[in-house]
Parts: sequence; structure tokens; C-alpha cells
Amino acid sequence: MTTAEMTVTRDRAEPGAAVLEARHVTKEFVVRGNPFTRRGRRVVHAVDDVSLVLYAGRITALVGESGSGKSTFARLLAALHPLTGGEVVYRGEVVDAKGGKRFRDHVSRVQLILQDPFGSFNPVATIARTLLRAVRIHHKAASPAQRRSIIEDLLAQVSLRPAAQFTRKYPHELSGGQLQRISIARALAADPDVFLADEPVSSLDVSIRLGVLNLLRRLTEERRVALLYVTHDIASARYFAADTAVMYAGQLVEHGDSEQVTQNAAHPYTQLLIASAPDPSRAVENRVRDIGQPPSLIDPPSGCRFHPRCPFAMARCSEEAPPKFAVDDGQWARCWLYADDDEAAAGRAQNADLYGRGEIRRAGRPVPDGEL
Ligand SMILES: Nc1ncnc2c1ncn2[C@@H]1O[C@H](COP(=O)(O)OP(=O)(O)OP(=O)(O)O)[C@@H](O)[C@H]1O
Ligand SMILES: [Mg+2]
Repeated sequence: MTTAEMTVTRDRAEPGAAVLEARHVTKEFVVRGNPFTRRGRRVVHAVDDVSLVLYAGRITALVGESGSGKSTFARLLAALHPLTGGEVVYRGEVVDAKGGKRFRDHVSRVQLILQDPFGSFNPVATIARTLLRAVRIHHKAASPAQRRSIIEDLLAQVSLRPAAQFTRKYPHELSGGQLQRISIARALAADPDVFLADEPVSSLDVSIRLGVLNLLRRLTEERRVALLYVTHDIASARYFAADTAVMYAGQLVEHGDSEQVTQNAAHPYTQLLIASAPDPSRAVENRVRDIGQPPSLIDPPSGCRFHPRCPFAMARCSEEAPPKFAVDDGQWARCWLYADDDEAAAGRAQNADLYGRGEIRRAGRPVPDGEL
């Protein structure tokens, strides 16, 4: 058996096929107060009714501010937290986080890549030992010689050559970028279908971020992995991801083609994120500077959770949560500005004016509740 045969052991999903789906996923954390009186007991509404599909060979960005629920959502997809509501579906089957074979399969096929590579390695184990552990779990039948060659192959896949230069080292002897590549190699040992990369380059030096992102992109394409790219940085989503989903206070507020979402954002929150991101190439003068504070997830605002910060808020925004409105090909926004009435039309005109856009958007088509 060659190394290639050992490492590619499973059937691959067709490019573009749905691999992992969140259907109306909700997560509430109960923060216990006094155990006797229950005083101080609080419920954190971290993720609320989020639906998202990840496709083979495709990168989807999940963008939002700190505390918006991105990491919690990634952990729900990885079945590391039980759900409060909704379901996670892997290749057409509902995942049960209570254990069993399907759960163990899920945990190996859906791999998390975390922000801080230093924190995810045993500091007193060599890289060889760390990788060997992962290879042992996923290639039980391989002989010691085969395992060594699998490790070499994994390191080559993340462009760390020659392997001997890395296997004998300890984590502290490597740079953050090298270590992040090794954590990707470790994830590859499981022959995953899905990568959930939670801020994979945020802790790395700016000069090496692009190299790690390009590596993730190459692996996504070559191995037809579905990749969720969690980030604060909406500008990098445009460069890196095919689709972008925007999360605000535990809910998705906009979704669509990355180019469309970043260049022609429909939701006032997405517009605010873009206006406040440093981007020297932006032609329109940055007119929005104070973007305000995210709301409490213990007692979230009524109606649209963004209404207290929204420059275009109307009376209904504090009363009723907006549905999804399809605003363009494959792009939707959860915002009352896209309702088909005069007040919303005036809001859209004001919106175009604030951002110096010549063209005023039209009303959107409400997306029926059943559609994801
Ligand atoms: N285990 C937990 N128990 C209680 N609350 C939690 C727990 N994990 C997360 N939270 C809360 O859920 C909310 C969402 O947190 P989460 O870490 O998912 O946000 P995030 O978007 O990843 O933020 P960041 O960009 O800072 O990483 C926060 O209010 C957080 O305090
Ligand atoms: Mg996070």
C-alpha cells in the first residue's frame, strides 16, 4: 500500500455537494448563579436560529465582531456542544452529540483549526510524537514504517520539507506559522471532509498570514474539503472565501457571494463593518467612525437585534424581527429596509445617500420561513 492510498481512504463528495449543514441551530448557555436560590442565573443566547450550508471544495466565511457567537457556532458544527435547538446534518444524516459511532466519525471528519497554535500542542512532546498520536488514531493498521511515511507525507502537504527538520523539534522551537501548518497537518491525518478554521491566522504575524490562507485554499480545492473560515476581518473574506455570512449578536444578518456582500452590502451592520475596516483602497471617504458596542446576549434587544445601533432604524425594527429578504442573486439580508413599502423605500434612499451610492436598492423578496 502506498502512502497516497493510505491517506485517501474515503470517497470524496462531489465538488459543490452539501457536506455539512446547520438547520435552525440555537445555543443557549445557562450561567448558574447561586445553586440554592438560583439567584444570578442567566441565559446567554449565544447562537439563535442559524442555518448555513458548507459545500465540498468551497470556502465560506463567517464574519462578525467579538462575542457575536462565531466560535460557539463552529463548535456546534463540530458537535462539541449539545444543541439547544435545530440540527446539524452531515452528508444527509443528523448528527447526535451524545456519543456513538456516528459521533466519533463526525469528530474525525469535521476538524477544528484554532487561532492559537501554541495552545493546542503539548509543550513537552516533539512534533513527531504529536503527529504520531493522530496517525495512530486514524490509521490503526499501519506499520511503524508506514506511519513514518504518512507523517512525512502530511508535512509535505503543508509545505514543511524536509520532514526531519520539524519532527524532532518541540513546539516552542517553531514559529507560529510553522506550528499552524503542523496543526493543519495533524487535522489532515483524519482525512477530513470539513475544516472549521476559527480565526486561523489572527494570531500570526501579518507577513505570514497569506501563506497559511493560501495553503488552506489549496487543500480545500485539492481535497474537496468544505471550509468554514471564521474571522473578524471582512476584507480578508472577500479575498479568501466564495461566500460570506455575517453574524450579529448570535444571528446571521446577511449572506451571499463574498464579492457581492463586501462590495454591495445590504445590511446596515455589514455596511458598518466594512466602513470601519481599514482599507486604503476604498474610494468612498470613511464617514462612519463610531460603530458603537455589541448588545447583551443575556437580554438581547427586541425586534431586530441591531436596531439600537442602526442609523436607519424605523419603528417596526424594535417591535418585530425582520425576515430574510432576497436582495440580489443569492444574497439575502435580514432587514426591514427591504420591505416593500414607502417608509422602507425612504430608508433605502437615505442608505444610498450615506454611502455615496448612486443607485438606490429595490425592495427584496421575503424568503419563506421553510427555506434555509
Ligand atoms: N461555555 C460558555 N458558557 C457561557 N457563555 C458562553 C460560553 N461560551 C461562549 N459564551 C458566550 O457566548 C457568546 C458568544 O461567544 P463566542 O465565543 O462564540 O463569540 P465569538 O464571535 O467567537 O467572539 P470572538 O470574536 O471574541 O472569538 C459570548 O457572549 C460568550 O460570552
Ligand atoms: Mg471566537
